[in-house]
Amino acid sequence: MAELHSLSRRSFLRQTFAFSALAAIHPSSLFAQSASFAKPDSGAAHMFMIGDWGTDKYLDQQKAVAVSMAKWMENNQSHPGAMFLLGDNWYGRLPGGVNDPRWNDQFENMYPTNLFPGPAYAVLGNHDYEHHAGFDKVQLQLDYPKQHKTRWTLPDKRYTFTWPEKNPLITFICLDSNLPGTKSWDFSPGSYLMSHADADAQDAWFAEQLRKPRTTPFVAVVCHHPLYTNGVHRDNRILIPRWDPLLRQHKVDFYITGHDHDLQHLEFDGHPTSFVVSGGGGAELVNWSVPPEKRGPFGGKVIGFTHLEAAKDAVILRHVGADANQLHAFRKTTDGKITILNS
Ligand SMILES: [Fe+2]
Repeated sequence: MAELHSLSRRSFLRQTFAFSALAAIHPSSLFAQSASFAKPDSGAAHMFMIGDWGTDKYLDQQKAVAVSMAKWMENNQSHPGAMFLLGDNWYGRLPGGVNDPRWNDQFENMYPTNLFPGPAYAVLGNHDYEHHAGFDKVQLQLDYPKQHKTRWTLPDKRYTFTWPEKNPLITFICLDSNLPGTKSWDFSPGSYLMSHADADAQDAWFAEQLRKPRTTPFVAVVCHHPLYTNGVHRDNRILIPRWDPLLRQHKVDFYITGHDHDLQHLEFDGHPTSFVVSGGGGAELVNWSVPPEKRGPFGGKVIGFTHLEAAKDAVILRHVGADANQLHAFRKTTDGKITILNS
């Protein structure tokens, strides 16, 4: 059953302060409500984001989100120049490897090029690390674009790029968040995650990327596992001590993930980073661990996707449900100010 929670500004502030000493919301001066519904600006750059979409059991839900993406575009005359695949790209088996029919059925034809042109940037989720009968689904995802003409873009387990290609506005730092200890379910011996050495090397690389002089107005970190989430997987005690200090120190604008099968937007008092969860791409809905009315500003137990709109002075993120309706939206400007755009 779909559930939506969007707090009034007053109750949001009151409840969030009451809930958590770790993570209270921005002071009220940073948070404004807009009464108007802001339509996507055709002059800006656009991309769609989906997480937890490559289901092997809930194809109807994956299809419903894909249909919603197309309908949203038609309704708003808004066309994305790229997609982001936020991990758990492939649940279950791909017995045909890079030639398995699921690549066409659930990616190429599910999000057809004529509607969704441009690169589809991927990051790796825990289900991508599932080990099935000797098939290494991580390596398959790295190999697929080398063997097929495709928009699938995964040059490495971690990578960075600026977007859009011309006049870039956002530096995306894409990480592999499958650190040792991050799994929430058992996996068989012989399966694998990153090694501790890989995780340390990635942390050094991550810090090095953040130390580079900024060349874009905004910086976003994208991976599969949330640091903070109201969803079933809970705040991540492995990742928070490693990465949260870096987000704060370098004033990262956005930390965008999937993993919990819902749509969330979390803000914390004094924290420069907006935390966005977009895990509604198709897999089964799961329960809250923290009532979203206590920590927000938004949580929706729904399937859906996220529309990112970027311009020189602001980024707008919209969570959109399976029937092409906007559930929540906010604008963040280069000075860190956030405006909720829900009407
Ligand atoms: Fe996941």
